[in-house]
Amino acid sequence: MTIGTALSSGATRALLLGSGELGKEVAISLQRYGVEVIAVDRYENAPAHQVAHRSYAIDMTDSEAVKKLIALEKPHFIIPEIEAIATQALAEIEAEGLSTVVPNARAIQLTMNREGIRTLVAEKLNLPTSAYAFADSFGELQAAVNGGIGYPCFIKPTMSSSGKGQSMVKSADQLQAAWDYAKSSGRVDTGKVIVEAKIDFDFEITLLTVRAYDAHCEIQTYFCDPIGHVQENGDYRESWQPQVMTDAALKLSQEIATKVTQEIGGLGLFGVELFIKGDEVWFSEVSPRPHDTGMVTMVTQRQNEFELHARAILGLPVNTQLHQAGASAVILGGIDAVGVVYDGLATALADPDTEVRLFGKPEAFVHRRMGVALATAEDTQQARKKALKAASAIVVKAS
Ligand SMILES: Nc1ncnc2c1ncn2[C@@H]1O[C@H](COP(=O)(O)OP(=O)(O)O)[C@@H](O)[C@H]1O
Ligand SMILES: [Mg+2]
Repeated sequence: MTIGTALSSGATRALLLGSGELGKEVAISLQRYGVEVIAVDRYENAPAHQVAHRSYAIDMTDSEAVKKLIALEKPHFIIPEIEAIATQALAEIEAEGLSTVVPNARAIQLTMNREGIRTLVAEKLNLPTSAYAFADSFGELQAAVNGGIGYPCFIKPTMSSSGKGQSMVKSADQLQAAWDYAKSSGRVDTGKVIVEAKIDFDFEITLLTVRAYDAHCEIQTYFCDPIGHVQENGDYRESWQPQVMTDAALKLSQEIATKVTQEIGGLGLFGVELFIKGDEVWFSEVSPRPHDTGMVTMVTQRQNEFELHARAILGLPVNTQLHQAGASAVILGGIDAVGVVYDGLATALADPDTEVRLFGKPEAFVHRRMGVALATAEDTQQARKKALKAASAIVVKAS
């Protein structure tokens, strides 16, 4: 692999489809290797737009718009950061052999719809998951729940992320509301929901898994230490690394992650979400890209998840070693406002082992993630306390 000079005719170009906080860090990692970065999102001034060589705001679910932009920019790498994109366009571009879709077009297609990845993992790979069914009418949903899934269960639109449209249902009288919510709040209405039996786990983890070349130009699977996290209404609030777990559960987690990522293929970093109870492990879902809970690696690993993704994509060697225990806590908007100001940064950063990232999103919403506080400590418990304290010191105000 050779890398050209950015902004020259020989540049190595990477186009990010999705320019949120995760894309911003991927852009920075790529820039450090001199890659020319083109950032795309549906709105102007998205976080990665602010650190890219060029930026565009287009409808990324519009095949023609995506193809037109790729024909104009001729990127060597197309790096999807979000799930809602025109996957058919990516498949065509990949087939033409002009750009590498990261990790590959099939992975993006499989993971943008819960039905694709769940069916593959449970039915083709025979890996443990929650009991599940798909329903495209309320009657079908009721039949699936009564026919064995039972209560409590989760109802989710087949196309959604960050907990959108998702609810936990404890009894029959809540089912209709969950159906209506899933139908109205999915990112794209496929007309279908997935219903999953609730797994009574001790804790959940993200196992960051990297497929990268080793010194002999062979693809190897590497693992970061497991990341524990807390989710509220399906959205992440806190994460920490390492999550302590039994050797048996870790081994099983790595086996599941290896099988899933091998089946998906390509080069890059994956976030494999798993539920753990004692020595038992269930697969939940996988992102073929850096994971929000993995932001903690910005302080815990020598090579964070964004750097690992960039290196793997570029065909470079990776080092997934943990450097220090740490934690992250998200900073939510708390208000609906454009052009907010952030107060309390000096207080948040008073502890020398604390860091803050503000994403620079042009508009705040009550539940929108606007930044993250990061902390390292002797152990994850102390790190969590510090990260939470730092996050709560930041006040988001209308300007
Ligand atoms: N079957 C389940 N059993 C227990 N908890 C679940 C289940 N499905 C989802 N959850 C909880 O909801 C969170 C979000 O669900 P997930 O399927 O990961 O949605 P998203 O794609 O929005 O991240 C999970 O991290 C977990 O905390
Ligand atoms: Mg998830």
